[in-house]
Amino acid sequence: MRDDTASDGETAETLLTWYDAHGRDLPWRVRPEARAAGVAADPYRVWLSEVMLQQTTVAAVKAYYTRFTSLWPDVRALAASEDGAVMAEWAGLGYYARARNLLACARAVVDRHDGVFPADLSALRALPGIGPYTAGAVAAIAYDLPEVVVDGNVERVMSRVFAIEEPLPDAKPLLVAAATRMTPKLRAGDYAQAVMDLGATICTPRSPACGICPWVNGCQARAKGIAADLPRKRAKAEKPTRLGTVWVALRSDGAILLERREGRGLLGGTLGFPGTGWDGSQAPAPVQADWLHMGTVRHTFTHFHLDLTVLHAALPHDTAPQRGEFHGANAFSPQDLPTLMRKAHDAALRHQGS
Ligand code: ADE
Repeated sequence: MRDDTASDGETAETLLTWYDAHGRDLPWRVRPEARAAGVAADPYRVWLSEVMLQQTTVAAVKAYYTRFTSLWPDVRALAASEDGAVMAEWAGLGYYARARNLLACARAVVDRHDGVFPADLSALRALPGIGPYTAGAVAAIAYDLPEVVVDGNVERVMSRVFAIEEPLPDAKPLLVAAATRMTPKLRAGDYAQAVMDLGATICTPRSPACGICPWVNGCQARAKGIAADLPRKRAKAEKPTRLGTVWVALRSDGAILLERREGRGLLGGTLGFPGTGWDGSQAPAPVQADWLHMGTVRHTFTHFHLDLTVLHAALPHDTAPQRGEFHGANAFSPQDLPTLMRKAHDAALRHQGS
C-alpha cells in the first residue's frame, strides 16, 4: 500500500528552504529575496516564459525571452504587433501553434481584461492557448494563489516521492492528486518553481542526484531503489516517416522565393519554401526551371519524421512565380525560418558560401 502520510506543510517547507538557498536565478523569475524587498512578479513575463518553456528547455528559451521582452515589454505592445514579426521572432522555438496562440492571448487580455492578466484560474483558462498547466503557473507564480502546477518535472518528482509505478499517461490523475496534496497554501508560486528546479537540477530523468536532494528522507522510490526507473512510461508506437519536397528558388539579384503557410496545422502561419504536402503527393513547381536535386533533410516532429527532398534553381531576376513571393536578400534572414526550413535553406545553398 502506498504511504500518503507525508506531512504536507513540513515537506513543502523543506523544499522552500532549499529553494531559498539553491533555486535557479532565471531571467523571468523574481527570487524570494527580491520579492521580500518589494519586487512584484509581472504576470505578462510569467505567462510569456511559461508558454515558451512548454516543450522547450530553459537554456533554449533564455535568448528568446530576452528578445521578446525587449521588443514587446508588456502585453499591450505584444498585442499591437504584427503576426509576421512575432512568427519571425519565434522561428526556431518550434510548436508554432504556441506563437499563434500567444498573439491571440495577448489580444484577448487587452480586449477582455484591459491589459491585465486575470488573477483567477477559470478566467485564465478561458484565454487562447492557456491550458491547465499555464493557468496554474500564472495564478501561482504571478499572483501567489494556491494553485497546483503539474509539468513533466513535477510528474517525475511526484512519481518518485510517492513511488507511483503506474506508467504514464495512465498515472496522470494519481500524479496530479499527489501534487495537489503537496502544494502549500502559502508561497504556492515559489513551491511550484522549487519542484521544477528540483526536477531540472537534482531529480533528473536518468541519474537523479539523491545524495543532495532535500526530499531524500521521505522519498519512497529512493527507499525502494527505483528512483531512476520512474516515472514508467507505456511503450510508444514507432514514429512513421513522411515524405515531401520543397523548391528553393534563388533569383540572380539574391531574392529568395518564400511562402507563408496557411492554416493552423504544423508550421501554420510560418514563412518557408513552397512545397508539396507531406503525404508523398505531387505538386507543380512554383516556377519552370532546371531544378537541381540537393539531397534530403530530415526533421522530427512530435508524431512523425519528415524526409524533405530539397530542389534548387537559380533564376533570372524577372522571374514571376506561380506561388509565393520573392523576398529581397536584405529583407530576409534564414533565422526567421522554422528549423525545418532552415535545414532546407542550408541544403540548397551550401555550395554558395552563404
Ligand atoms: N519550467 C517551466 N516553467 C518553469 C519555471 N517557472 N521555473 C523553472 N523551470 C520551469
